[in-house]
Amino acid sequence: MSGASRQLALFLCGWCVAALGVQAEEHCPAEHRQAAQYVAAVYEHRSILSPNPLALTSRRQALELMNQNLDIYEQQVIIAAQKVLQRLSCMAIKGEMFLVANLGTKQPCHSSDPGCPNDGRYQFNTNVVFSSNGTLVDRYRKHNLYFEAAFDTPLEVDNIIFDTPFAGKFGIFTCFDILFFDPAVRILRDSEVKHVVYPTAWMNQLPLLAAIQIQRGFAITFGINFLAANIHHPSLGMTGSGIHAPLESFWHHDMESPEGHLIIAQVAKNPLGLFSTGNATGKMDPSRSKFLQILAGDLYSAQDTQDVHCDGAPKWSTNAPPTFNSEMMYDNFTLVPVWGREGYLRVCANGLCCHLLYQRPTLSTELYALGVFDGLHTVHGTYYVQVCALVKCGGLGFDTCGQEITEAAGIFDFHLWGNFSTSYIFPMLLTSGMTLETPDRLGWENDHYFLRKSGLSSGLVTAALYGRLYEKD
Ligand SMILES: *[C@@H]1O[C@H](CO)[C@@H](O)[C@H](O)[C@H]1NC(C)=O
Ligand SMILES: *[C@@H]1O[C@H](CO)[C@@H](O)[C@H](O)[C@H]1NC(C)=O
Ligand SMILES: *[C@@H]1O[C@H](CO)[C@@H](O)[C@H](O)[C@H]1NC(C)=O
Repeated sequence: MSGASRQLALFLCGWCVAALGVQAEEHCPAEHRQAAQYVAAVYEHRSILSPNPLALTSRRQALELMNQNLDIYEQQVIIAAQKVLQRLSCMAIKGEMFLVANLGTKQPCHSSDPGCPNDGRYQFNTNVVFSSNGTLVDRYRKHNLYFEAAFDTPLEVDNIIFDTPFAGKFGIFTCFDILFFDPAVRILRDSEVKHVVYPTAWMNQLPLLAAIQIQRGFAITFGINFLAANIHHPSLGMTGSGIHAPLESFWHHDMESPEGHLIIAQVAKNPLGLFSTGNATGKMDPSRSKFLQILAGDLYSAQDTQDVHCDGAPKWSTNAPPTFNSEMMYDNFTLVPVWGREGYLRVCANGLCCHLLYQRPTLSTELYALGVFDGLHTVHGTYYVQVCALVKCGGLGFDTCGQEITEAAGIFDFHLWGNFSTSYIFPMLLTSGMTLETPDRLGWENDHYFLRKSGLSSGLVTAALYGRLYEKD
């Protein structure tokens, strides 16, 4: 580790989060005191350049580091870490709120400690939590670093859960941590944790891992409120924050404006999960077509899913469409084109088979494809994924499937499912112009996990089930 990169330690990592719960009910009539909601806010902070010309040098260094390493923090050299902490604490009191911020912290260590860096200190990527009276109530040190040369990994995982008077227990972790078991999944084993605060510096990667996509998927999968604050740095692809509940999201994704953005929303103290809603099936009108009859019916009750297309339904196509390979998110996906007005498709790779039943009210000239990947992802991090994805391709050629696009016109009513060998599956439903939609239904049916959606309000960019097999990393 070079000395230069160690110099970058003392800065606010954009102090990207103000995730706060305001006790709204204090200002309400007594009968509303037991309000079921609280107010949350996240701030997508535009990183500020230091007026100090010396800072330009460190910024250039930082940008070099960023290009190499992809996980990025805009650098703000600060005069003294303690002073900052004091200011944050005062902000928490002024706003009568809990406040979470992300910054770099250092911790002296002794040379007798074999892990102690040469300069005699550990440097951590840290979140600090202040209560509404200004007390520092907890701190979380990032565990899954993303090529952050300036920072050290804590020797032990911080499994941090803090309590609030307005909404109970909150979990906390940072950025890349979202893709790993520790601490993100482990802290949610405590069923009283219904909220997560999440500062991030996430570089968007379509079609599967834009910031708002994975944030929303996490909220849905675990049935929690997910308060995410990204850094605002469009030139590095960093934007995308949100207050995500399982059934609803308030998000911000803006590649145009240079300005930061504050999101404020009321969220439930006890978020309702998608799994607890019973009315979603009713949205389909079974009289409209044979296809919708299948979708609205109990698809799996009687027979194996593979018989679906030949049992009572018209045969969608006699000639199976061609299978091809294309790179998506640096992974070698196996895909089939999604042609025609309606159909059933199946595509398999390794141990995973993905299925799609679809109908399109109108045909667009765009190419869509159904893809599968079951393997170890090894670029910019190593993690095992199982993915079923319906994506809009970049152009009309098969080799454009997997490219990054944000605009689409294709409307689909569909049922997407796969025989995943993990229960950690993140649903993703991204539509044109970086908008999010909520699945109609989601869950296990026999040994398949499915996502169902009809009535999209804008063109489909990505519908995916993104599974993680933590034990195979
Ligand atoms: C400040 O808040 C913390 C955490 O909510 C609480 O434990 C502590 O007692 C409070 N201190 C005062 C002086 O109210
Ligand atoms: C992708 O996988 C297919 C099928 O396993 C293989 O034929 C092809 O060579 C692979 N492509 C690349 C670029 O590795
Ligand atoms: C998924 O289905 C395919 C095809 O039937 C099968 O080969 C594979 O073993 C299944 N995977 C799991 C995890 O059951």
